Order: sequence, then C-alpha cells, then structure tokens
Amino acid sequence: MEEYDFENRIVSPTEIMGDNDSDNPLRPRTLNDYIGQEKAKQNLAVFIEAARQRHESLDHVLLYGPPGLGKTTLSGIIANELNVNLRITSGPAIEKPGDLAAILTNLNEGDVLFIDEIHRISRAVEEILYPAMEDFAIDIVTGKGQMAASYHLPLPHFTLVGATTRAGQLTAPLRDRFGVSLRLELYTPEELAKIVTRSASILHIGIEPDGALEIASRSRGTPRIANRMLKRVRDFAQVLSDGVITLETAQTALERLEIDELGLDANDRRMLTAIVKFYRGGPVGLETLAAAIGEEAVTIEDVIEPYLMQIGFLNRTPRGRCITRAACLHMGFDLPDAQDGQIRFE
Ligand code: ADE
Repeated sequence: MEEYDFENRIVSPTEIMGDNDSDNPLRPRTLNDYIGQEKAKQNLAVFIEAARQRHESLDHVLLYGPPGLGKTTLSGIIANELNVNLRITSGPAIEKPGDLAAILTNLNEGDVLFIDEIHRISRAVEEILYPAMEDFAIDIVTGKGQMAASYHLPLPHFTLVGATTRAGQLTAPLRDRFGVSLRLELYTPEELAKIVTRSASILHIGIEPDGALEIASRSRGTPRIANRMLKRVRDFAQVLSDGVITLETAQTALERLEIDELGLDANDRRMLTAIVKFYRGGPVGLETLAAAIGEEAVTIEDVIEPYLMQIGFLNRTPRGRCITRAACLHMGFDLPDAQDGQIRFE
C-alpha cells in the first residue's frame, strides 16, 4: 500500500520548515491582531490585564486543541502583552531533568516559557516541573553516596505555557498545576478569510474577497494550512494570470493541488474510501483503520479526524468510526445498503 505523506501534504497542519520561524511576519503580535478563538482570547485578555495590574507573573496556561491553530503564536502574544521574554522549547527536546533545570535557571522574572507537545516530557523531567510550577524552586542533587548534596534553588516567577493536542494526554498532577486552561477550536471559513486577507496584505499579494474565502473554505479550519495555501495559490496566480488571486485562480490552483472544495486531499479521501470499501461505512475501530491505511492512530485522531468530524463526515462511536451520509454524498459513494445491519448512519 502506498505510504501517506502527511508531513508534506499541503493540508498538513503540522509544521514544516519556514512555518514556525519566530520572525514569521504573518504571526500576529498582539491579542488585537489575533483573529478568532474569541472565547479563549477574551478570557486571556482579562487574565493578562489582572496580572499586569498586580505586577505578578501570569498563572500557568495550558493550550490544547488540534495542531496548527496558533498555540505558539498565542504564547508569543502572551509574552508580548506582558512585556517579557519568550523562551520556546518542546517536550521531546527536554531529554534530561538537567536540561529543564538549565532552561529554568536562565529565565528572568516574569518570563514566559513555552513547552510545545508538553505531553511528551518524560517522567523524570515532569518531577522537576512540579515544584518549579508550584513553588518556583527546584531541588538539585549532586554527587553520590557520602558526597551527595542537595540544593534548593529558587527560580524567578515565570509563566509556563504548555501546548498539547489533547488535555487528556497529560497526567492529572501536571494538568492540575495549570491555573488557566484554554481550548482552541477549528476556525470558521469567515475567520480564516480574514486571516488570509491579513496575510496577503503583509506579503503584498493582491487578493479579491471571494478568492480569500475560497482558500479559507478549503483550509480545514486551520490558519497554518490557509497561510501555506495562500503562498501556493499566489504562485499559480503569478504564473497563470496577472498575480491577483481571484475566485477563479484560487479554484484552478486548488484543483491542480488536488484539494477539493471542502479542503479534503487525497489522503482524507482515501481514509473515507477505506471505511466504505473495507468496512461498509463502519463502525471500524481506530487501530484497525490505522493499520488498513498505514497511518498511526494518533495521526488519524489528532490530524485527520477533527476536521472530518467538524464538517459532519465522520462520527466517533463507542464501537468505532462511522462515515456519514453527507460524506458519502460528497464522495459520490452509493449510500450503503440500509438492510445491512452493519451500517450506522448518523
Ligand atoms: N495567523 C495565524 N493565525 C492567526 C490568527 N489567529 N490571527 C491572525 N493571524 C494569524
């Protein structure tokens, strides 16, 4: 079976090089410039203002939700609004407790420490993180046997911003140590159209409103995908027409990139096809489906499924995944035989 190249597909919400440069001009720097996520944004604005008024560090913040929705961007905004430094690292990058200790002891008062994929830190590192978050101190043991000595090292008051795709992936003690927990949602096409228009203006790309909405509608609710698509559509607009992105150039470009009107690419279509062809529309267990399409279960859960569920193409049931009637209609499948007890539509 052909391998899926999720990392390099244009609709991959995971980062590829160049997306995440800290000097990425497309990243908004203030809450005011940040489009969408209204609930999270409004609450965050209050917490930031309160901390500022009290001259205290902001309580630790947990950001969770599908990849590509702007968790790193939000952490940068938090640091910027608080007028402090931002230090970025990730769960897998912190290999040993000493690595974390080195980062923590180098922070300045009030700084924001962003740990991406925080669910992937090791147990040993997590043990250091508890007292650091709670008491702003770490205990370091040096030497062995009779030479062993323990130091209690106070840390500056800092704000940990942790990001994960699912809050449930964190251990309960770690989750409990975040005072603020914000869930990021997929963006609406209208919000994405605003983001695309803003990005086009920063990159000096001419774009018409219905061109922006076309890109937005095909971006799976994800700004990172929308911005990446904007750059590719610009290439088509530049080479095939006068450089301005219109509805037509957007449609032609996205057709050529094999991204359909709803943003589904060949891989999405293949997963939906597998559910219908191999499992008669479902239910099919996640692991079974993962094996059938040669993809990891977590990728299916965190990357592919959120959007398919948002647009009503897939249901997660206790017995497994089921494709919906709407998905069959979109994909042009025959509606599975209702006589067959295996089909569970809606
Ligand atoms: N670029 C990426 N995400 C954004 C957002 N939420 N608002 C504005 N620009 C963005």
